[in-house]
Amino acid sequence: MKELEERIRREGAILSETVLKVDSFLNHQVDTELALTTGREFARVFGGDKITKVLTIEASGIQFAMAAGIALGVPFVYAKKKKAVTQSDKVYVAPVHSFTRGETYQVSVDQRYLNAGDRVLIVDDFLATGAALVGLVDIVRESGAELVGVGCIIEKSFQEGRGLLEAKGVRIHSLARIAAMRPGEVHFIEETGTRQLEEERA
Ligand code: G4P
Repeated sequence: MKELEERIRREGAILSETVLKVDSFLNHQVDTELALTTGREFARVFGGDKITKVLTIEASGIQFAMAAGIALGVPFVYAKKKKAVTQSDKVYVAPVHSFTRGETYQVSVDQRYLNAGDRVLIVDDFLATGAALVGLVDIVRESGAELVGVGCIIEKSFQEGRGLLEAKGVRIHSLARIAAMRPGEVHFIEETGTRQLEEERA
C-alpha cells in the first residue's frame, strides 16, 4: 500500500536495524482514516474467502482488526495477555514472547468466541519474529476453526516471522514489506512484485 509506505518514510523513526517507531500514526496515536483504509484493503484481498471473524492480540492489533471487521462486516475478537476476573475458565491459551517488552504472556481467547464453524482472518500491526502470530495461529487451529490467512500492516521481511508462518502453511498478506532498514533509510519490497507473486500462486 503506497500510502502506508510513504507514511513510514515520512514519519517512521528507525531506531536500529530491527526496530521501527511508528507511534505517531499506527500504534500509539492512530490515524483513524489510515486504519480504515487498511481494513478496506484486507477486505479487498480476503473478501472472497467467506470470513466470519477477525482475530488479533491486544493492544496494537485492535484498531486494525476492528477496521478489517467493519470492512468485512464481521465481528473481531482480541486475544488477551492478562487474565481478568470476569474471564471464563474455558479459554484457548498459547504462550507468546513479546519482542518489544521482553516478557512472555499466556495469551488467551474465550472458547465461546471462536468455534469450529468459523473462518478466521488474523490481523496484526507488525509481522516481526512471528511469536505473537504463531500463538494466534495455534489458538485458531486448537479451536477447530478454519484459518484463512494473516493480514499484517507492516512486515519486517528480514526477520523470521514470515518463514515461521509459511512453514505452518499460512497465507500472508502484508500492506508494507520492509526488506531492510537502518537509521535514516528504509527499503520496501515492491508491491507490484508481491501482487505478481500472488497472481502466480493463485
Ligand atoms: P509477531 O511477529 O508475531 O508480531 O511477534 P513479535 O513478538 O516479533 O512482535 C510482537 C510485538 O512486537 C507487538 O507488540 C508488535 O507490535 C511489536 N513489534 C515488533 N516489531 C516492532 C517494531 O519494529 N516496532 C514497533 N513499534 N513494534 C514492533 P507487543 O509487544 O505484543 O505489544 P503491543 O504494543 O501490541 O501491546
